[in-house]
This record gives sequence, C-alpha cells and structure tokens, in this order.
Amino acid sequence: RMTRYYEWTISRENIAPDGVDTSVILVNGQFPGPLIEADWGDEIQVTVHNQLSSPGEGTTVHWHGMTQQATPWMDGVPGVSQCPIAPGSTFVYKFTADQYGTTWYHSHYSAQYTGGLFGPMIIHGPTHVPYDIDIGPVMLNDWWHTNYFDVIAHDLFLPPSPVLVDNNLINGKMSFNCGLTNSTCTPNAGVSKFTFEPGKTHRLRLINAGSEGMQRFSIDNHKLTIIAIDFITVAPFESDVVSIGVGQRYDVLVNGTGHPGEAYWMRSNYSQKCASISNLQPNALAAVYYPETDHDSSPNSTANPYVETDCMNEPLNKTVPFIPILPPDAAATTKEMEMNLIQNATGHLVFTLGGSTFRANFNKPLLPLANLPGVVKTPNNGTSNETSIYAPDSNVYDFGKHSSIRLILTNPLTLAHPMHLHGHNVWVLAEGMGKWDGKVTNAKNPMRRDTFIINAGTPELPAYTVIEWVADNPGVWPFHCHVTAHTSLGFMAIMLERPDLIPKRQIPKELDHLCKSWDAWSNSNV
Ligand code: C2O
Repeated sequence: RMTRYYEWTISRENIAPDGVDTSVILVNGQFPGPLIEADWGDEIQVTVHNQLSSPGEGTTVHWHGMTQQATPWMDGVPGVSQCPIAPGSTFVYKFTADQYGTTWYHSHYSAQYTGGLFGPMIIHGPTHVPYDIDIGPVMLNDWWHTNYFDVIAHDLFLPPSPVLVDNNLINGKMSFNCGLTNSTCTPNAGVSKFTFEPGKTHRLRLINAGSEGMQRFSIDNHKLTIIAIDFITVAPFESDVVSIGVGQRYDVLVNGTGHPGEAYWMRSNYSQKCASISNLQPNALAAVYYPETDHDSSPNSTANPYVETDCMNEPLNKTVPFIPILPPDAAATTKEMEMNLIQNATGHLVFTLGGSTFRANFNKPLLPLANLPGVVKTPNNGTSNETSIYAPDSNVYDFGKHSSIRLILTNPLTLAHPMHLHGHNVWVLAEGMGKWDGKVTNAKNPMRRDTFIINAGTPELPAYTVIEWVADNPGVWPFHCHVTAHTSLGFMAIMLERPDLIPKRQIPKELDHLCKSWDAWSNSNV
C-alpha cells in the first residue's frame, strides 16, 4: 500500500485550447488537469492551493465515483461535506482508492469545472480481459469560450436565452472555425493524436467530462469492445459507436486492424438532440496514426454509420457486471422521487428533485450537522410538520437506520438526464416508460453504476429508473443531475445515510479551519 502524493495550484489564466483565447481554470498550469494514477487500495493525498484571483473564488475538488468509505468529509462538495477552499487557502484531501478503473476529478464549486477544473484518474486493479497497450484517458468535453458563471447566469433563465456551447474537445484539443467568433482566434489549433499498433489490442479510457451534452464516440473503421462502465467491469460487448452521458466512463478495447501508413479519425459528437443547449461546432476529432504515417497529415477516413435514436446508454439487458453482486431480496425502504422544472417566485427556472430545489449554504456544510443528538430530522418532502435541523432548501432525505434504500425516480420532462449518486455504485434495477411493473432486469446480476441516465418522458408518460443501494456508507451523499447548469439550478437532493454512525468527533479539524477562512474571505468579498 502506497500513498500517492500530489500538490496542486489552482489558477485562472488566458489560454487557447482550441485556438480561441479563453479564461480557463488550470491545475498546475494545465488543462485538462494532471493525471492521478494509483493502485487499488492505495492512499491518495492531494494538497490543493487555491490561487484563483480576478475574480477570486472558492474551490473544492470531488473525486467522481470514489465511495469515500469512512471519509465522507473528503468528498469535495461545498455546503455538503466542506466549506469552499478560500482564495489563498490550502486544503489536503486524503482518501483511499476504494474502486478501480477509470474516473475523473472535478471542481464541485458552482459550475466551475465547466471553466476547466477537471482531470483524469486511473486506478489500476485486476484485469478481466487482456489487452496489449493502455492508451490512457480520452477525455471528451463540450467547451464554452465564455466564463462558466456567465454561462450559468444565462442558461435557462428567462430571458435572455442560453449561451450556445462553442466547441467539443478530445483531451483538451480541437480546432475552431474562427469565422464563428469575434474573439482572438488562431485557426487550425490542432487535434489530439494517438498511435495504434497493427495487430495489438488498445485500451482507451473514455470519460465524458463535459457539462451539458451526451457524447457519441467512435473510431472510423474500428470496432469498440466495452469492458467497463463507470467503475464496473462488464461482460465484454461490441459497438460501433458508444453513447456516454455527462460524468460517465467507458473503458473500451480497440483492435489495431489498420496497417502501417494509415490514419483514421477518432470522433466524439455532441448530441444536439440530447442537450438543452446546442453546440456551434459539435463534432470533435482526434487523429489515430499507425506506424510509418506522417503525424502532420490529416486522416481522410469516413465515419461509421450511426443513426441517433434515443438519449439512453446501452439497454440494461446488454450490460452485465463481470462480478455479480446481488441486491437484498427486499429493499428496507422505498422512496418515489420525481424531477421537474418550475418557475420560482422571482421568475427563474429551477429544477426540483422530490418536490424541492437544492441551494447550498457554503458557510454551513451539512455533514457536521448530521449527528447532532436530540434533533428531529425528517425527509424534507413537504409532508411533515416536524422540525428539521436542515434548512428546507438543503433538500435532505434522512434514511435513518434503514439498511438498504430503493429509489423509484420519474422524469416527466422531455429531456434525458445523467443522474449521479455520490458514495455508491447503485444497482440499476429497471428503466422504462410509465409505471414500473416491479420486474428487475438481469435479476440475477443487475447492472451497477455511479452515473445513470434517466430517459426523457412526458407529463402523460413519464420515464422511470429504479435504483437501489445498501446503506453501508454513513455520510451525506449528493444525488444530482450532472449537467452543470442543471446542478446549479438546484437539481439535487441529499441522501443522509446512517447519521448515527457519523461520529462528529472524527470530522478532521482542518474542516473547521477551512470554514473559518471561508467565512473571513466571504465576509470581505461580497
Ligand atoms: Cu461528478 Cu457530484 O459529481
């Protein structure tokens, strides 16, 4: 068991990932941020210095998909597990690499990762399908030339209309058509380049690190064999094009069926159909070169045929975990939860999840409140008159001592949403339209994920997804839509799990210090 140490400085600078001058949030001067790499079971320690200025802003880092068993305070969510790291302050994240496979880290402060604060994580573990070459992370993200706070200020507010997404990137690169912008723009900024070996098997770690759109990923003339989804290894299956929702990861194997001297396009298309905001230049490219090919040449291959149908992942019956884990026979408690989009009292659109919208109180995170003795805590579902220590807009669901939790989630909205639960891989028991018939798909080995898509529905025929998890991880776990604008518009609920087992005395003192420096900074910077 090793400890992997990282030391990061977060700053904001003008760079041009796609040729267009943009103010970007960087980790140690890099966009996307540096790779974190560890072995399963290692400790990871990341020292984060917040050097964000003009404007000064807080920050936090969330380690997407890490379950943070026994370290819920390292989950990196401001107003939930911690206060933000104030400008000029430092915080040290320490946690165990408790899952293996491919993931990413990102800021959880407002929609800050839209502005660049994200990067890849690889946790090495057992391999269930052999391969020859690890190509490493292939990060896909939609990209704005506008500051994230301006994007959020406009998105879905009434009026003005949303700020269009500008581009789509693969590992932080893509060219941009300078005719589409008034900003300083250098044409032909260049694309990411990969090298394949003929006859070898390559592992690509696909990550949708975007903020808004589903990605349809493919490599011309090549087949993709999916071997892992999120942190779950699966029975391998083939696909020409893989659909990846925001926050999701797909590990794919690609056989080097090309020959020396050949080059092919790798493509990731932002699905206009599946997003609430359209993208000016939705189709990202990267180049795949075989040996003896001029790496300055452009491939001239054509795309695999693909017809956009729905906005879902591969159907549940096709995705089977390699290692079966069975849910309990009957869930200890079941909750129905609907999502919606409403106009609030000030005329703004906000999302609701379970009837309420979420608003973070950065100065008062929920975790230290979780086990205050003698206080009645109730699910904030509007049906109870009991007092809760949680403000109504923290949208907390207290599941008490229940040993397992089942959620029946319904979507009457005409857009599909990538939903993410912190702290767990959940079983996805069923998905469909209308009313769930109680049947579990792949009942002997249901799929598990940390980010799943709930289909688009209508008010007359809502879509549903049924998930379940074992309440074995005491903590306060956000459950939210991973589209950053939607999260910012309150599309989040907090799952309070076994509060009796979150001993307050274990919460590291550094978290208090963080709140004190945040209080001081926020009081003088309103
Ligand atoms: Cu990847 Cu709550 O986020």
